[in-house]
Amino acid sequence: MTKDINRIIDELHIYEKKVLNAFEQLGSRLSPEEVVESQKMDIKAVMSAAGSLESKGLITVDKKVDEVISLSSVGKLYAEQGLPERRMLKVLSENDALPMGEITKKASLDKSESKIAIGWLMKKRWAVIDKGTVKITEDGKKAIGKGEDDELLLDKLLETQKMMLFNPSKLVQRGYDLLVKRKGLIDVKKTTQHTLVITEKGMEILEVGIDLVDAATQLTHSQLKTGEWKSLQYRGYDIQAEYPEFYPGKMHPLRRIVEEIRDIFLNLGFTESRGPILESAFWNFDCLFQPQDHAAREMQDTFYIKNPQHTKLPETDLVTKVGQAHENGGKTGSEGWGYIWDEDVARQSVLRTHTTGVSARFLSENQPPLKMFSVGRVFRRETITYKHLPEFHQVEGIVAGDEVNFRNLLGILKEFYKKLGFEVRFRPAYFPYTYLSTECEIYLPEKESWIELGGAGMFRPEVLEPLGVETPVAAFGLGIERLAMIRLGIKDIRMLYKSDIGWLRKLPITQGVDLTD
Ligand code: DAH
Repeated sequence: MTKDINRIIDELHIYEKKVLNAFEQLGSRLSPEEVVESQKMDIKAVMSAAGSLESKGLITVDKKVDEVISLSSVGKLYAEQGLPERRMLKVLSENDALPMGEITKKASLDKSESKIAIGWLMKKRWAVIDKGTVKITEDGKKAIGKGEDDELLLDKLLETQKMMLFNPSKLVQRGYDLLVKRKGLIDVKKTTQHTLVITEKGMEILEVGIDLVDAATQLTHSQLKTGEWKSLQYRGYDIQAEYPEFYPGKMHPLRRIVEEIRDIFLNLGFTESRGPILESAFWNFDCLFQPQDHAAREMQDTFYIKNPQHTKLPETDLVTKVGQAHENGGKTGSEGWGYIWDEDVARQSVLRTHTTGVSARFLSENQPPLKMFSVGRVFRRETITYKHLPEFHQVEGIVAGDEVNFRNLLGILKEFYKKLGFEVRFRPAYFPYTYLSTECEIYLPEKESWIELGGAGMFRPEVLEPLGVETPVAAFGLGIERLAMIRLGIKDIRMLYKSDIGWLRKLPITQGVDLTD
């Protein structure tokens, strides 16, 4: 898509215009410094304008990386005093052969310099060593009074301080090759040279011509008041300009729906409660009138814990009453299950299989009237599939009070799902701890079908009597993951726990029902 030239001009920033203006005045290839000087801009402004002009295809910015060499402090010293081997050669030019110690002294070199000097004397074949005596060679004699390439480069650097290594002469190259072999004589720095080159598209713009008027970017109070704003020039914005994608941190979608659910119940005036994940069979099953031979208590359904294998039971009165409710109904008027209840079975520790135990605990400690909810993780021995996980979330709740009845319960659930944006229907169901009991299903318009999401009912007397609760209690327990899956449009429950960063990034930051109205 090529943009209309006038539109491009309209969107140019004043700095961009100035840089283009420099081409108009000076030619088609410019160094940033030339632009700085001719347009009275600072280098930062030039470079940033050059960058945006380049992204618009109006100029190109050529880069040439070059090495700049200069003398180090040691290099400078050698340049002034001569390389150590040169200083030794000087001594040798007066005496053809000398013992090592003496030559060092005469050349006034220190120990390390003397080593370097000897090394290079040999490398350059200026001398040989014979039984501790240093002797000058023919090459050495020829070298007297005649600077080598490395020495010439040192001299040059002493004079010019800096030198580009781009396209060096043979002499400089040879000198450089010799000098870099010795550590710490020359410093090498990389520099980048930029050249701004106008493109054909840029030329077209120059042909049309640009107006160097500075466009208004901020309006003042008085410009607005006096109406001056009407006559100002404004720069066009390219709202289709590319922008960098960024991914701000956000709440995980499952966490988000949990928070939304908490908001709903808190706004309905419910108290929030919590319970332990490591629970006793007593609170998870027995207290809820779930017989000790119930299928859900089997090892293949429930995670039993080895360590600690047992947990403490609450005060004896409650335990005794629960036992009686199971055995013969106690004072509830029920016959109970008619078996011998075993306290040790109730002591076993389990990973809670539902959050209903939290409701029982809450009722043991609080007097009605009350409204309580709890959100938490529960665990069941499920094989992992696209539909099931051994760990998921439930939201549990109870409403207790003299006037509370089954219709209230259905009303609360209707309201709850409505707030989440779903239609709910109820089917008769069975749970050991409730009567009447129901299952909630919500409608999926795109599938034209109903899916089951949780259970609810009125707690039975066998549950309430041992807890000392004398009012009716409406209770419900609902799954959360399925709701989240519907919300997010995912078919595999594992997605919720996968931390698939690509998927998470694509999710909108806010999603779901607006709770503010
Ligand atoms: N605990 C049940 C489950 O996990 C759900 C449930 C049913 C909770 C009835 C309740 C209830 O509080 O009254 O499937």
